[in-house]
Amino acid sequence: MQFAVTVMNFLALAFVWLLGAVAALVLVLYIIDRTQRGDAIRRNYPVIGRFRHLFSTLGEFFRQYFFAMDREEMPFNRAQRDWVERSAHGAGNTVAFGSTRNLGIPGTSLFMNAAFPPLDDEFASSEPLLIGPHARTPYSAPSFFNISGMSFGALSKPAVRALSRGAAKAGVWLNTGEGGVSPYHLEGGGDVVFQIGTAKYGVRSEEGGLSDGKLREVAAVENVRMFELKLAQGAKPGKGGILPAEKVSAEIAAIRGIKEGSASISPNRHVEVGNWAELLDMVNHIRDVTGKPVGIKTVLGSADPWEEFFALIDARGPESAPDFITVDGGEGGTGAAPMPLIDLVGMPIREALPRMVDLRDKHGLHERIRIVASGKLVNPGDVAWAICAGADFVTSARGFMFSLGCIQALKCNKNTCPTGITTHDAKLQRGLVVEEKYEKVANYAKQVIKEVETIAHSVGVAEPRLMRRRHVRIVQDDGRSLPMNKIYPSATGHIV
Ligand SMILES: Cc1cc2nc3c(=O)[nH]c(=O)nc-3n(C[C@H](O)[C@H](O)[C@H](O)COP(=O)(O)O)c2cc1C
Repeated sequence: MQFAVTVMNFLALAFVWLLGAVAALVLVLYIIDRTQRGDAIRRNYPVIGRFRHLFSTLGEFFRQYFFAMDREEMPFNRAQRDWVERSAHGAGNTVAFGSTRNLGIPGTSLFMNAAFPPLDDEFASSEPLLIGPHARTPYSAPSFFNISGMSFGALSKPAVRALSRGAAKAGVWLNTGEGGVSPYHLEGGGDVVFQIGTAKYGVRSEEGGLSDGKLREVAAVENVRMFELKLAQGAKPGKGGILPAEKVSAEIAAIRGIKEGSASISPNRHVEVGNWAELLDMVNHIRDVTGKPVGIKTVLGSADPWEEFFALIDARGPESAPDFITVDGGEGGTGAAPMPLIDLVGMPIREALPRMVDLRDKHGLHERIRIVASGKLVNPGDVAWAICAGADFVTSARGFMFSLGCIQALKCNKNTCPTGITTHDAKLQRGLVVEEKYEKVANYAKQVIKEVETIAHSVGVAEPRLMRRRHVRIVQDDGRSLPMNKIYPSATGHIV
């Protein structure tokens, strides 16, 4: 009895002390908030005003679980992300009951099923497509769906390793992004596209220009199949790459040829390329030196200036053309970019792609220049739309990040990515187990290809590259849909 009373007294005393401590803390916070000058809410609503910041921070994490509807988040909604996740797991990817998609929203693509689709034994798989017929070593690209450029630097070492091995397993190419080629890109033994960014990481001379010697060294790696000269990417047209200082580790600095721990900022364009003639000169120079196909990556502001580019190719002859043009939509992703550029600059892929395809075809270069499309083309319907519009290839960056386990935490610029994909913090990288994830990368790529084939068969053709603009209708403002070949009539009839 005596013992119980002592315990009760102790608890009561502890409670009083606790209350006192809380009251003292609230008082201190009240005084701090009332007297500080930087935050109006805390100054006017001391202590309680602090919850606003706490809830906004927590909202960022919890909204996707509790509050957001399946189709309403940005940049990718839950339905899009879940599709990738299910595909990556390699489990069956069927859903039940009916579509949760609102099919009346203007811009929605609807594929036109054939009355009599081909029978199962009439299906074909897409054949490899030749890129760069005039290069000394042309590339026969096996897959129409591939991995878009993301540098080692923006991505972590395990992420690049898993992508490399997954790409090899699925038979798709892996683009290095602008940070140069690392041993991790080559680990899987699959096809690699070497991107030359404006800072020319990996192929830079002492003076900061392009080093022919280094170009030859990279080209000598058999798995490096093509070179992509980056003019711009959709998330930040007119701005070069940005790798924040905290992400520039010793290894990344060594591969890029820069200083460890200081931000890696690329120029906003290639200093040697200020007009179309200089662009063609540079493309041809890289092709001559490397012997491999060379393309460009760009974002359309308007199609008009590109008329001049194609006129110049007409004048110099088709051999002078880039072997491929990657059109990245303004909605493209990035490791880090200023918000006005991410949000507001660059034509979306849904408008840019048909325009670029039409320009190419109008100039008779349909078989000469391959068009690669990217920009939120992460699910089979998006990829099928791009092929209908005239793309020869589609690439994705964030689709493959989702296959690696990305949860869209939007921390790629902070070195705190919770899934280990875009951080160089070894503790966080531990979560990304290469041996598990590479299978998921491969599963995702294969599932996209398989379901694009399913759409192709449904619209009545034997394989995806036989799909045309007439096979897809686009919902208009009045709720009715129009065939894409009425909205973008083809210049030559190749793709109607
Ligand atoms: C983390 C990250 C890093 C990227 N790094 C590069 C890069 O180095 N070079 C480049 O041209 N594009 C880069 N991009 C852009 C992608 O290659 C791609 O063009 C764009 O994200 C559109 O594809 P998506 O919508 O499937 O992500 C990056 C994108 C992300 C998300």
